[in-house]
Amino acid sequence: MNAYKKRIVLIVEDDASMQKVLSISMQKMGHNYKIAKNGREAVDLVEAGDVAPDAILLDIRMPVMPGLVALPKLRTILPTVPVIMLTAFGDLETGLSAMKAGAFDYLVKPSSLDKIRDTLEKAFSYREVMEMKAEEERRREQLRVDLEKRVESSYEELGNVYQQLKKMNMQTAYALAETIEVKDRYTQGHCERVRWLSSQIGKAMQLPADDIEQLEYAALLHDIGKIGIPDSILNKEGPLDEREREIIRMHPIIGAQILSTVEFFERAAAAVRHHHERWDGKGYPDGVISDGIDRLARIISLADTLDAMATTRPYRVALDFAQVIAEIKALRGVQFAPDVVDVFFASGLDKAYFKKLEEEPHRA
Ligand SMILES: [Fe+2]
Repeated sequence: MNAYKKRIVLIVEDDASMQKVLSISMQKMGHNYKIAKNGREAVDLVEAGDVAPDAILLDIRMPVMPGLVALPKLRTILPTVPVIMLTAFGDLETGLSAMKAGAFDYLVKPSSLDKIRDTLEKAFSYREVMEMKAEEERRREQLRVDLEKRVESSYEELGNVYQQLKKMNMQTAYALAETIEVKDRYTQGHCERVRWLSSQIGKAMQLPADDIEQLEYAALLHDIGKIGIPDSILNKEGPLDEREREIIRMHPIIGAQILSTVEFFERAAAAVRHHHERWDGKGYPDGVISDGIDRLARIISLADTLDAMATTRPYRVALDFAQVIAEIKALRGVQFAPDVVDVFFASGLDKAYFKKLEEEPHRA
């Protein structure tokens, strides 16, 4: 099937008379050819891309680089190109071992034109099959690369959607937090500051990213339960009576109930329920002690109380920095978890918090 197709044959032969015989044979068969005088020259030629042969005729005995040394190199550079070894008469053993080493076939010198033609035709057919296989391989590889790229970009898209969802969740949480601040006029910016400080403490405590995320939601929404408390009690100037106090003390339970209706906020709901618990067990609503208190709630408790002390409330004016610091220290292990207080001071969050408070526009 390849009889009339013009091919390129690389002739690797040191003997001038053999070069001539082979050149004439190629001309008679209508093939192009190139001559290399030894293995080295042949390797250099194909390596440089100076010749792209369809088959290689490779002499075994040559100076500089003999055929058996050149064979593996040529096979590596041109894996689909068949190599036909040229052996001297009586050197069949070498021809056979060359085939074991990857040669396609061998010709005994001198060979008849028909024999050379037959061997070359078989070699060209072999090359075509090999090329088809290689092409198939390339296509498959390209498909794999394309597929990988598509998978990667869908991952990226998914990541973007996830980020957007998270942003939307946070926006929803902010909107909810604002509804509390509208109701409770003394708490302007309070939820956001509690979120910020809780997040800073959580990070300083090296909590996992998922916990920090839930901590932020819980901190932002810790007083969401105040939605269920009458305004007359929430904004009452002066002391509350026992019944009013009891009603106000319901807000962590109401808040946890509101949040637990959304699966995503379940972790945050547990923290909201415990944000008024105390280390000594005298808190509310459950009166749990130390390790019984939700871990995220212990952080929110400190942030919430600190912000309440540092800002003006219906029942008193804001305490100054030194007073707040003294209070927090005094309440370590009483109201607050000792490790939370320690991390708060160790990471300089006392100063950072007051700096942030001073920088707020309405306080300047
Ligand atoms: Fe609260």
